[in-house]
Amino acid sequence: MSRLSMSYMSLGLSLPASLAVASAADAPPPITRTSAPHRFRPDTIRVKANTPVVLHSPNKDTEDEEARACRVARGERHAGRHTPARQHAGVQTSDLSLRRGIPRTDRYRAPGGAMRHVHMQTLPSLRPLGLPVFLLLACLGSSHLVQAQTEEVVVYSARAHYGQEPAFEAFTKETGIVIKSFGGNPGELFERLKAEGDQTPADVLISVDAGDLWNAAQAGLLAPIDSAELRANIPVHLRDESNRWFGLTVRARTIMYNTQKVKPDELSTYEALGNPKWKNRLCLRTSSHIYNQSLLATMIKHHGEARAEPIIRAWVANNPTLINSDTRILEAIAAGQCDVGLTNSYYLGRLLAKDAHFPVAPFWANQQTTGTHVNISGAGVTAHAKHRAQAIKLLEFLARPAAQQLFVDSNLEYPANPQTPVHPILAAWGTFKHDDVNIAAAGEFQAAAIKLADRAGYK
Ligand SMILES: [Fe+2]
Repeated sequence: MSRLSMSYMSLGLSLPASLAVASAADAPPPITRTSAPHRFRPDTIRVKANTPVVLHSPNKDTEDEEARACRVARGERHAGRHTPARQHAGVQTSDLSLRRGIPRTDRYRAPGGAMRHVHMQTLPSLRPLGLPVFLLLACLGSSHLVQAQTEEVVVYSARAHYGQEPAFEAFTKETGIVIKSFGGNPGELFERLKAEGDQTPADVLISVDAGDLWNAAQAGLLAPIDSAELRANIPVHLRDESNRWFGLTVRARTIMYNTQKVKPDELSTYEALGNPKWKNRLCLRTSSHIYNQSLLATMIKHHGEARAEPIIRAWVANNPTLINSDTRILEAIAAGQCDVGLTNSYYLGRLLAKDAHFPVAPFWANQQTTGTHVNISGAGVTAHAKHRAQAIKLLEFLARPAAQQLFVDSNLEYPANPQTPVHPILAAWGTFKHDDVNIAAAGEFQAAAIKLADRAGYK
């Protein structure tokens, strides 16, 4: 038990959750090697007037930040505009300005040039409890305020662009474990984990395609998890056979059609989109995007390259309109720019949530053959996780039906755990046969899919 906790107990108080500071300049360590700029989503917390502020950063001298909090609690003026700790991270701020009471966001330019926003959390709720007195006791009794923090899990998430994750909040509410989430696209997060090595603050990697997770596992960035609960809740074709990653949501990549121009009985399979009747009527995402690479990869797994290549050549012969956005493909179909296309199911779900009369519907491809291609958004625990037990708890939590519902409904995806009901918008589309090939194929055949697309002239 930390001395801070003991100090609280000596006052007859339990440690308030708000003292378990979760945020605090938690920008991960500087990138030492990267192939792309890292743009983390900004998270900001306003700083109120004369409010003690506790900051800590995993790559900096936390004692310096702790000492600053104690000085603020004692009411001492701290003159330094740029402390050594903050200079280290290039943070342009000062304690005086924090105490001036101007709501603000601290930004700094990380090595490599990307702008980051500093996370800060204040302790205002402790003031009615005599916080300044208490913090003084804490400062006298401990030089390690950070020890008083609650348990935490650091997540690198490629889902950040989907917005808030209500399931994360539910996890913290149930377990008291704080989640610190940093967003980025899958390639950025992969490079970041590789560059950080055993110094990474990340405990969990969440990605949006099985191919990404397969690549991370192959690179040694994910460690196996021995969890009977995860194995029971996640079907075998949606997880790594070595238990290094687990699907948490399912997204179908299927045929979308304009309901005013196409009848469902004109449609059948992915392969049939190469029929000349779809010439100049087909919209496709570019082959450079992993969603289509994964679809092609599973086609190669089913048919072999020799049979898959003519299928792609037939698509190309139909002069498809190439658009590198699933949402814009759906909008193009609705606008009559093309009549059919291939997109992930949740993009249509989102558009229908805004406009129930959006004139596009899904057609479940390959129901008489291999089933509709499904991919996952999933997670694994990093090889160098500092909070491995908490990270496993998070994955187990997210795989349970109650959390699954929160996790998938926020982005209109299908649950990976079959015990979970689907959102009404998705339920209206009916049930369908999934392609139950192990989705690891998306990674195993990714390189072959990229080469095949090149050979077939699919840009
Ligand atoms: Fe997506």
